[in-house]
Amino acid sequence: MPSTVVVGGFFGDEGKGKIISYLALHDNFSIIVRGGAGPNAGHTVIDGKKIYKIRMLPSGFLNKNSKVMIGPGVVVNPKILLKEIKEFGVSKRAFVDRNCGIIEDVHINQDSKGRLKEKIGSTGSGTGPANAERAMRTLKLAKDIDSLSSYLEDVPNAINEAINSNQNVLVEGTQGTHLSLWHGTYPFVTSKDVTASAICSDVGLGPKRVDEVIVIFKSYVTRVGTGPMDNELTPEETNKKGWAEVGTVTGRTRRAAEFDYELAKRSVMLNSATQIAITKLDVIFPDCSQKTSYDSLNADAKSFIKNIEEKLNVPVTLIGTGPSIHDVIDRRTKV
Ligand code: IMP
Ligand code: MG
Repeated sequence: MPSTVVVGGFFGDEGKGKIISYLALHDNFSIIVRGGAGPNAGHTVIDGKKIYKIRMLPSGFLNKNSKVMIGPGVVVNPKILLKEIKEFGVSKRAFVDRNCGIIEDVHINQDSKGRLKEKIGSTGSGTGPANAERAMRTLKLAKDIDSLSSYLEDVPNAINEAINSNQNVLVEGTQGTHLSLWHGTYPFVTSKDVTASAICSDVGLGPKRVDEVIVIFKSYVTRVGTGPMDNELTPEETNKKGWAEVGTVTGRTRRAAEFDYELAKRSVMLNSATQIAITKLDVIFPDCSQKTSYDSLNADAKSFIKNIEEKLNVPVTLIGTGPSIHDVIDRRTKV
């Protein structure tokens, strides 16, 4: 039974929430566990008329049979987490590792002004300052916080035990490869490594226990905040193409560019991708909207996908064709 790790291949906001919730509903994972930075991440999940915005819980929570967990590498804002646990009705199946770092108001204040806010364009969520304090070994941990006591768990042990007994585990990353503290466009990056290896380390999964690594790319590139971006379009060009988006966490307008094969190649290498998911195909090819079979795509869309597979040498197994979690072409059995 496989363990699957899902990460973003560009600068975050590739549509991880949607692909992850699709996988969660179709593959019946016993545990869905989140690695990555912290509540600087925002995932959007659309199920019919319902829109969920998630910052702390794994975005695969829609499958009621799955336990949802947060690994010790993630810094947690208890207020946001407890609100999401209540709002999404998951209190019986949500777990936080006892060693998760805790974001407090002081971190949010530091993150909301000065160099981090103005130069780096941080999300103001306190994630970076909390990680800095963790490196200084002064940060509080989840086990020190009363309000989290009923959710505490040894997450690395839980996921390794599940894999030992042949259960499926889905490991969710946040942000995107080129926002990695090690591999991204430093200093315009987040406060951690966010490649697949780091996400596995965040949750306590060793490198030999990973079966599949799915790297998600959007059909075009977006970036929120500052930092370099090759072939960036002007806001007018972005609007004209229908690529204008706003950030889930910050409400800021996202900058945009065409699909970047060089960035994608590097992501495939850094994450050792075994599969690729492409999202928002319908945004660049409107007549692919809500299609669920590859055969029904038009010739241009097919050649876009084929080109990605040829250039990156990894199969494109999942294709997003609309905002809903059901708008997915799943080619996993056919490749
Ligand atoms: P921080 O992680 O809040 O310190 O922000 C550092 C940089 O990473 C800024 O450019 C943010 O906009 C960006 N960033 C952090 N998290 C995300 C995310 O989940 N999606 C997109 N950009 C992000
Ligand atoms: Mg996002």
